[in-house]
Amino acid sequence: MKPVRLGICGLGTVGGGTVNVLARNGKAINARAGCDIVISQIGARRDNPNCDVSALNVVADIFKVATNPEVDVVVELIGGTTDAKELILTAIKHGKHVVTANKALIAEHGNEIFEAADAKGVTVAFEAAVAGGIPIIKAIREGLSANRIEWLAGIINGTGNFILTEMRDKAREFEDVLLEAQALGYAEADPTFDVEGTDAAHKLVILASIAFGIPLQFDKVFTEGISRVAPQDVAYAGELGYRIKHLGIAKRSPDGIELRVHPTLIPAKRLLANVDGVMNAIVVKGDAVGPTLYYGAGAGAEPTASAVIADIIDVARTLTASPEHRVPHLGFHQDSLRDKVILPMEDIETAYYLRMSALDRPGVLSQIAQILSDSGISIEALIQKEAPEGEEIVPLILLTNRALEKQLMDAIIKIEALSSITSPVTRIRVEYLK
Ligand code: HSE
Repeated sequence: MKPVRLGICGLGTVGGGTVNVLARNGKAINARAGCDIVISQIGARRDNPNCDVSALNVVADIFKVATNPEVDVVVELIGGTTDAKELILTAIKHGKHVVTANKALIAEHGNEIFEAADAKGVTVAFEAAVAGGIPIIKAIREGLSANRIEWLAGIINGTGNFILTEMRDKAREFEDVLLEAQALGYAEADPTFDVEGTDAAHKLVILASIAFGIPLQFDKVFTEGISRVAPQDVAYAGELGYRIKHLGIAKRSPDGIELRVHPTLIPAKRLLANVDGVMNAIVVKGDAVGPTLYYGAGAGAEPTASAVIADIIDVARTLTASPEHRVPHLGFHQDSLRDKVILPMEDIETAYYLRMSALDRPGVLSQIAQILSDSGISIEALIQKEAPEGEEIVPLILLTNRALEKQLMDAIIKIEALSSITSPVTRIRVEYLK
C-alpha cells in the first residue's frame, strides 16, 4: 500500500511527543496500520522543539501544510479555536483527513467541522481531545455501542486533580501546585481553563454527544471550578468519609440530559475517589454492560501522542473505505443525532455538603434543621466542632439528602439570613456514583 503522508502542525508538548513516538515505534505503527506512515511536512514556528526535526521538512506557515498535495492527513496540534479552525476547514476543503487533540475546537465548533468533513467524505479524528492517553472516545463510540449509556462521570482535567490531590496529601497551597503543573506541561495555555472547569466542560460535551447521540452543545454545560475549594473542606470531607474531586458528569434523567462540571464529594471507597495526581479516570454506565472504568494519564507529551497516533493509524486503515463505512464522528450517523433538553442546574437533584460558621448558642442547629426540613431537605450527617478557647463561633458541617438545586439555594438564603450565622454558606454537591 502507498505510504500515508502526515502534515503535522504544531510542535509544542504534544507535537514533539508525536514526532518522538512515531520515530521510536515506527515499525510497529506501520505494521498495525498496514502501510508506512511518514511525516511529509511539519508546520511550526518553534526553534527548539522537544524532538529531532533535522531530517524533516519544516515550514513556518501551517496553511502550506493544509494545502500541500503531498499530505494526506493533517495533524492539528496548535490548539486554540481561531487559526486551528481555519486550518482544519482548509485541510478538509483540500480533501485531507484531520487528526486533532483540540478539545476546545471540537466542543465549540465540532458540529460545523463534522458537517464540512462529511460533505467532503473525510474523517476528523479527535481521541486525544479527551483524557489524553485514555482511549475513551473509542471505548464509548465503538466498544460500548450496544448500550444505552445511562451516565458517565469522570476526572477529566489532570491539572485540577493534581492540585486537589496535593492540597489533600501535602497541605500545599493552590498557586504553588498550579505552577508545578504548568512547568510539567499539563496545564492549558490559560490555566484558568483548568481550574475553572472550562477544559473539563469541553471534554464533557464531547463525551456526552458520543454517549447520548446529541449534537455538541458547549454553551449548555454548567461549570464551576475548584478555585474556591478551601483546605478545610478537603479535610472535613475526609472526616465524613468522602473526597473532593472535580468531576464532569453527564447523565440521562427523565426530563433531559444533565451536563455539569463541579467540585464533588464522592465516597472515599469509590475507585474514582482514589484516582490521584495528574491521572484521569471516567466511569461509564451502560444498561447492558453496567459500570465500566477507564483510567490513565490525561495529559502530557507521550500519553497524548499515544491517542494522536492511534487516530492516525485508524485513519490510515480506513483510507480506502467509502465514507459511509467509516465510524461516524460522534458514533451515531448524522441523521440520527437528536437534540435533547439540557437541564439547567437549578432543576438538577443532588445531595449537598454545607459548611457555615455559627454562633455557639442554643437553638442554632434547630433553626437550620427547621429551614432545611421546610424545604423538604433532610440532614444525613453533621459535624459541629467545639469553639476554640475564648471564641464563640463554631464551624458547622452538614450533609443533606438529595434535593433540587433551586430548593437548596432557597434554603441557603434563609440560613444566611439567620443572625446566628456569621459566614456565607459553602455548598459542594455530593454524588454517590452507585
Ligand atoms: N490541561 C489539561 C489537563 C491537558 O490538565 O488535563 C489535557 O487536556
